[in-house]
Amino acid sequence: MLEVEAKKTGDPSFHSAYILPANEPERERLNQQSRFMTKAVFGGKLISTQTNISPGDEILESATGTGIWLLDLARELPTPVSLTGIDISSRLFPTNYPSNVIFSSQSVTSLPESWSNKFNLINQRLLTGALTKEQWPNALSELYRVLKPGGWIQLMETGPTPKMYSGPKMRRMVDSWASLYRLRGLVTDIQDILEQLLSEAGFVEVKKQTVPLPLSPGREDYEEHKKNIVGFFLAAKQPFLMTGQFESETEFDEALKEMQDEWNSSSQCWWEWAVFHAKKKENTEGM
Ligand SMILES: C[S@@+](CC[C@H](N)C(=O)[O-])C[C@H]1O[C@@H](n2cnc3c(N)ncnc32)[C@H](O)[C@@H]1O
Repeated sequence: MLEVEAKKTGDPSFHSAYILPANEPERERLNQQSRFMTKAVFGGKLISTQTNISPGDEILESATGTGIWLLDLARELPTPVSLTGIDISSRLFPTNYPSNVIFSSQSVTSLPESWSNKFNLINQRLLTGALTKEQWPNALSELYRVLKPGGWIQLMETGPTPKMYSGPKMRRMVDSWASLYRLRGLVTDIQDILEQLLSEAGFVEVKKQTVPLPLSPGREDYEEHKKNIVGFFLAAKQPFLMTGQFESETEFDEALKEMQDEWNSSSQCWWEWAVFHAKKKENTEGM
């Protein structure tokens, strides 16, 4: 039986099922991934909602990791806007950042009571490998609570339920990824159910956009995208080995290489990234 790491947060009943490390190679990987996703999935935009940012506004990034998205945004914003990054682990927080940026160690499932109706915009990317089926609704209801009426949230997710496989080698790796999620109580198809969960949490104007990026050679972004996905598997190697689906590290490395060889000889394989936008209802009290 897989042992799930238990991490204490503000919520004493919270257990973290998170599958990735918090070390220097992971900092490098997350930074490269964030910049690549902003370019390839968001068309170069850090903010893709209809939000107009004004002086005095407050922006939250949930599960900020290394804080790269917030730091890139701080460089881009012309006005004094307050930027807050939270993450369950402070180990990847940056050491140097501008005075309008704050980093705080919090779980998205239990945000400070004093933050109700505080933020104009929230960004959250890639909690796919972190939140269980029970924790997702809880996290979304906390994000709804801390958003100002009329404020927007943008999210990006993916998961081990692709619409397309290059062949049996990819199927093996993706199936073992899904098994790892099931063992930890994580959600294998969050990208397919998140619209519904956002609506159930009270969000309105919920929209999903899927962005397919290539796994077959000869297309723009192929090399960077492939590096990104392979980097994820390598970062999660220990949790994968703990599932018992690979006899040894050598077998895991070989299976990963075989998947890349399969991609290299396929011509039409894509991986889908899902982007979500949603709004907190306007405050209609007293109207
Ligand atoms: C795959 S990383 C993505 C980091 C960042 N969003 C990015 O795109 O670069 C997932 C992050 O979620 C954080 N995390 C996991 N469980 C969390 C929770 N319950 N609350 C807040 N952050 C959490 C992890 O510590 C990690 O930094």
